[in-house]
Amino acid sequence: MINDIERVLITEEELRAKVKAVGRQISRDYREKDPIFVGVLKGCFIFMADLMRSVDIHCAMDFMAVSSYSGTTSTGAVKINKDLSEDIQGRHVIIVEDILDSGVTLNYLKSFLQQREPASIRIATLMDKPSRRKAPVYADYSCFEVPDAFVVGYGLDYNERYRNLPYIGVLKPEIYA
Ligand code: IMP
Ligand code: MG
Repeated sequence: MINDIERVLITEEELRAKVKAVGRQISRDYREKDPIFVGVLKGCFIFMADLMRSVDIHCAMDFMAVSSYSGTTSTGAVKINKDLSEDIQGRHVIIVEDILDSGVTLNYLKSFLQQREPASIRIATLMDKPSRRKAPVYADYSCFEVPDAFVVGYGLDYNERYRNLPYIGVLKPEIYA
């Protein structure tokens, strides 16, 4: 039993309902477009799995892994640790992210992928923390707007822990200490 959570912010039931609704919306918006979902590892993995199972049109998927260069986040420099294995030229790309925070990562990733001339790029994020935004990036699909608190669970970690929690929770402050 994990006892490090101060409070549950988003329950399993709320996650299931909202992710399903966004999946249905994407199905309507991308009918006949055969989109490719590009998940940003590792945080996206549970959201991506649930989102794709709510999509009932032809689609493909791929993953990328990125990390911020420490100390240079203000420049927006992001390191690509794993690139796509699929060609996205002419494809409709939907980037799938766990949480849009400063926006630095997605801002970089979007322009990086734009160079490969996809037909379109949109962003689907599980959570959005708009109060923290530094880069000019907006979510086309966002399941939950969350306050400026550090959240874990449903794929999101603190020091690689808590990704397995089936809900989104706020960590007890003493865990950071
Ligand atoms: P950004 O470039 O600041 O938008 O960074 C977004 C990334 O930081 C997310 O994909 C997460 O991996 C991580 N992150 C930001 N806020 C949180 C949080 O509250 N909990 C867990 N990870 C977070
Ligand atoms: Mg992430």
